Amino acid sequence: MTAIQKIFWLRLVTTVGLCLPALNLAWRWYSDDLGPRPVTEATHSTGDWAVTLVLLSLSLTPARALLDWMPLVQVRRRIGVAAALYAGAHFLIYVFDQKWDLIVVATEIAKRFYLTIGFTVLLVLAALAITSTNGWQRKLRRNWKRLHWLIYPAAAVAIVHFFIQSKLQIGEPAFAAGLFAWLMLWRLLPAKLRTSFLGLALLAVAATLFTVGFEAGWYWLVNGIDPLRVLPANIDPELAPRPAHKVLVVSLLVIVAVALRRGIPALKRLFTRRYIQSTIPAP
Ligand code: HEM
Repeated sequence: MTAIQKIFWLRLVTTVGLCLPALNLAWRWYSDDLGPRPVTEATHSTGDWAVTLVLLSLSLTPARALLDWMPLVQVRRRIGVAAALYAGAHFLIYVFDQKWDLIVVATEIAKRFYLTIGFTVLLVLAALAITSTNGWQRKLRRNWKRLHWLIYPAAAVAIVHFFIQSKLQIGEPAFAAGLFAWLMLWRLLPAKLRTSFLGLALLAVAATLFTVGFEAGWYWLVNGIDPLRVLPANIDPELAPRPAHKVLVVSLLVIVAVALRRGIPALKRLFTRRYIQSTIPAP
């Protein structure tokens, strides 16, 4: 397959994949399959997908460097735009829930901190999606990079919004925060460590510890729960899997994927050499 064909298929598969959660949600809503509170379920689902896609768009730079596969960057823009669209749908469902009363919506956004920050993230994601085209990139020149740097604080604030609305069930936002920590720490590593197994092992340990810290820190700061009561949960098998365990598993899977990506071509080369040596008689 040529490089152009690969990019075509990658773009097509990504676009279909990005539409599937929305189609699934629309179908379940239409067929009354969203449980007793369909609007709440739809709000949660679109919010979850918005955060997931923001994290996915941030993972493409490390994925390209680690898997040495250039076409991956070709789908970054559409993943970022999809994140903004899911966030937009999330907001519209909220407005629908408020019976389209924009005065109530504006008052709630101004009054409730978690909605104020959610709205700020939505504005940032919308601005990034609109300016993601080549035309805007040319028009904004160096400022384009500065503007798109806002994705990092926007992702962090989106996760805070996730934490706040999750109340006491902070497993999912803590997992998202751990993955975000991995993605940010990877960017902070010295260039040589970023693609080495040592770097990835250090990253796995650091992201896991960060997740432990986020979880215990949140319970302590927001709910006043002593961290010494939360930390032991991470070593209690009955309470597994904790967010930190999930972050560790994802980090280890990254290492396995990189090992396979590098190991398989090396094995192929070795087998081809052996095969040639065994079939072609030495001169
Ligand atoms: C004006 C903008 C926004 C509004 C009004 C809003 C509103 C809400 C509401 C009402 C909930 C559910 C609260 C509950 O059930 O108690 C929620 C949850 C959530 N929101 Fe937003 N939000 C906004 C922006 C965003 C953005 C931009 C993102 C992500 C990029 C986001 C991600 C989430 C997530 C992940 C959840 C939790 C879903 C879950 O619990 O499974 N929100 N939001």
